Amino acid sequence: MKKQVTIYDIAKKAQTSTATVSRVLSKSGYPVKPELRERILKIANELNYIPNMIGRQLKTNTSMTIGVVIPTITNPFYSSVVLGIEDIARERGYQVLLCNSHRSSKIEEEYLKTLLEKQVKGLIISSVSSDKDELSKLMKMGLNIVAIDQSINELNASQIHFDYRKGGILATEFLIEKGHTKIAFISSPLNRISRQYVYEGYKDALMNYGIKPNRAWILISSREEEVSEMNYEFNNGILMTRELLTCSELPTAIFAGNDMTAFGVMNELNAQNIKVPEQISVVGFDNIEFSKMVSPTLTTIQQPDYEMGRIACNTLLDQLDGVNTQNIDIILQPRIIERNSTKENETEG
Ligand code: RIB
Repeated sequence: MKKQVTIYDIAKKAQTSTATVSRVLSKSGYPVKPELRERILKIANELNYIPNMIGRQLKTNTSMTIGVVIPTITNPFYSSVVLGIEDIARERGYQVLLCNSHRSSKIEEEYLKTLLEKQVKGLIISSVSSDKDELSKLMKMGLNIVAIDQSINELNASQIHFDYRKGGILATEFLIEKGHTKIAFISSPLNRISRQYVYEGYKDALMNYGIKPNRAWILISSREEEVSEMNYEFNNGILMTRELLTCSELPTAIFAGNDMTAFGVMNELNAQNIKVPEQISVVGFDNIEFSKMVSPTLTTIQQPDYEMGRIACNTLLDQLDGVNTQNIDIILQPRIIERNSTKENETEG
C-alpha cells in the first residue's frame, strides 16, 4: 500500500517546520513569507497532499450544505431550476451554496475548488466545461454529483436532463405544420450538448419534411461572453436577427435556441418594423415565466425547469442520506406551448 503523505513529509521537503506547513495549508492567516508559502503549496500539490486531505474530510463530512453550479442566473431558466433545488433542500434540512460560472469553464473550475474547500456534501451542476477531468477527480474523492441540463457521459453520476433533440423537432415541426418552409435558426454557440441537440432536432425536422436548410438562415454566434450590463442571449438574439435581416430573401419563421434569444429576436424585428407574427413567426425554447409576459406572448417549448431542480435535489439528497445509492438517469420530455408569436403562413403555396 502507498504510504500516506503527511505534513512532516512536506515540512522536510520545504525545509521548514510542521507548524508553518499546517498554518499555510489550513489558511490560518498567520503571516508566512510569500516565497515559503508558495514552496509549501507547490510541494503539497506535487505530493498530492491536498486532494488526499480533502478526500479524508469528505468521508467524515457532517456538513448539511450542497453546492450548486449553474452557468448564469441572468437566464431565468436557471433561476427556476435553483428555486426547485432550494425548495427541496430546505424541506430536507440542507443549505445551498450557489455559484454562477458566468458561462466560463475557468470560473467553473475555480468554484469547484472553492466548494470542496467549503466542504459541501454534494454537488448539482450544469457544466459549461468541455473538460470533465475536474469533476471526475471530485467524484473519485467521494463527492456525490448530480448533472443537470448538460449531460455528462464521461461521468458515472446521476443525470437529470431533457430531450433537447425532440424539443428541436417539435418546435420546427410545429412551424412546418403551420405552412412554414422558410424557417431560420438562431442560437448561441453550439458549445453545449443541449444546444447541439436542439440544432440537430431543427435539421431532423426539416429533413423529415424534405425541406433543404438554407445556410444563410442559420445564425449561430461564435462568441459567448456575459457582459454585465447586457444579457448575453438577449443581445445575441438582436445581433443575429440584424444579420439575418440583411439576407435578400427573408424567412417566414424563426426558431430561437432559447426564450431569452427569442426575446432579442422579437425586439430587433420590432425595431425594424417587422410584425410578429404577421410577417415573421417566432418560436422560443424553455417556456420561462417571461414568455407569458412579453407582447406578443411567445410560442415555445416547455422545459420543466423548476421540476428539474426538485428532481435533481431529491436525487442528490437520497444518495447523501443513503436512501438510494444507485445512479439515476432521467430524461424529461418537451411539449409545445402555442401562444401569439406564431401564426399560419399565408405567403407560400
Ligand atoms: O436557456 C437555457 C437553455 O439553454 C437550457 O435548455 C440550456 O440547456 C441552454 O442551452
